Amino acid sequence: MSIRIIGTGSYVPERVLTNQDLEKMVDTTDEWITSRTGIQERHIAGEGVFTSDLSAEAAKRALEMAGITADQLDLISVATVTPDTTFPSTACVLQRKIGAVNAACYDLVAACTGLIYSLEVAYSLLKASSGKYRYALVLGADKLSSIVDWTDRSTCILFGDGSSAVVLKNDPDDHSPDFVVASKIGANGNYTDLLKLPAGGSAMPASHATVDNRLHYIHMAGKEVFKLAVNGMADSCKYVMNVSGVRPEEIAWVIPHQANKRIISAAAQRLNLPLERVYVNIEHIGNTSAASVGICLDELNRAGKLKTGDYILTTAFGGGLTWGAMLMRWT
Ligand code: ACO
Repeated sequence: MSIRIIGTGSYVPERVLTNQDLEKMVDTTDEWITSRTGIQERHIAGEGVFTSDLSAEAAKRALEMAGITADQLDLISVATVTPDTTFPSTACVLQRKIGAVNAACYDLVAACTGLIYSLEVAYSLLKASSGKYRYALVLGADKLSSIVDWTDRSTCILFGDGSSAVVLKNDPDDHSPDFVVASKIGANGNYTDLLKLPAGGSAMPASHATVDNRLHYIHMAGKEVFKLAVNGMADSCKYVMNVSGVRPEEIAWVIPHQANKRIISAAAQRLNLPLERVYVNIEHIGNTSAASVGICLDELNRAGKLKTGDYILTTAFGGGLTWGAMLMRWT
């Protein structure tokens, strides 16, 4: 039995919001945003486009590459912090939109670490099911523009909308190694206050006061998150390299969560990984939360830059705080 990635897909909406556009909205400059984050532009979905729509686009592309139809899927795992609704799950809405009538569906919340959590859970289900689940569609998708406070210059410059999808196949007749070489996911609930959307849940249901106090938007202590992000990504990467015995020089590509170019550089330096092997698209995409790592993976894949046998190290961190790393072998 072997579990492999047989398709990838990603999607960002057409509309581009540049740093120059943001200069007209809040007290900021292109120079500040570029030098502090590396971001020049991000993509923003229109009002009638939901996270399930973004997901459907990435899903269709991944299914097409995989060469299977949606009704062959057994599982849909959607990582998101911007579900269409609290319930039903975005995965259920996506199931209807793509016609995946035979799939079990669930959403998963791990903020920007979402895709790595989603892959870990779906992979483990496939592995443990002895063939009950054959095909899984694993997504990270977020319409962050729907929870960004467009009057808060410290957060609104960071985020964009997007989606990514991976199709996993569990093949009982294939005896090649799985795509997962080693993985590590973690969390520290002591840091829940550093990065959160305060209202709208059972702790603080929506009210006039929550709206007036702008509590339905992302609140973030950027500086604190910055330091913990570097540690979380570097430590989880070190863990997967240690348990697998794969050395930094053997890794073809590192795909870090695209949160901030300075965070990416600091983490790469800690790991002795040369920047030319670290994939970065933050200039044009911004931070797309759960979609981020998967968009990079799909871009590399479609550009023909992933070769059979390549080691690919993915890593992310996000609200929770959560973090994780997955070392993959490309097949
Ligand atoms: N334009 C101009 N000035 C700004 C802006 C802006 N857009 N935003 C903040 N400033 C100002 C601040 O007010 C501050 O001014 P002061 O010194 O007069 O008080 C100054 O710039 C420095 O602010 P800092 O917050 O210290 O800036 P920092 O260098 O830390 O950069 C940033 C801020 C970009 C947010 C950084 O801390 C960061 O990237 N943090 C991590 C964010 C992240 O990755 N979040 C996790 C993922 S999101 C998820 O999980 C959904």
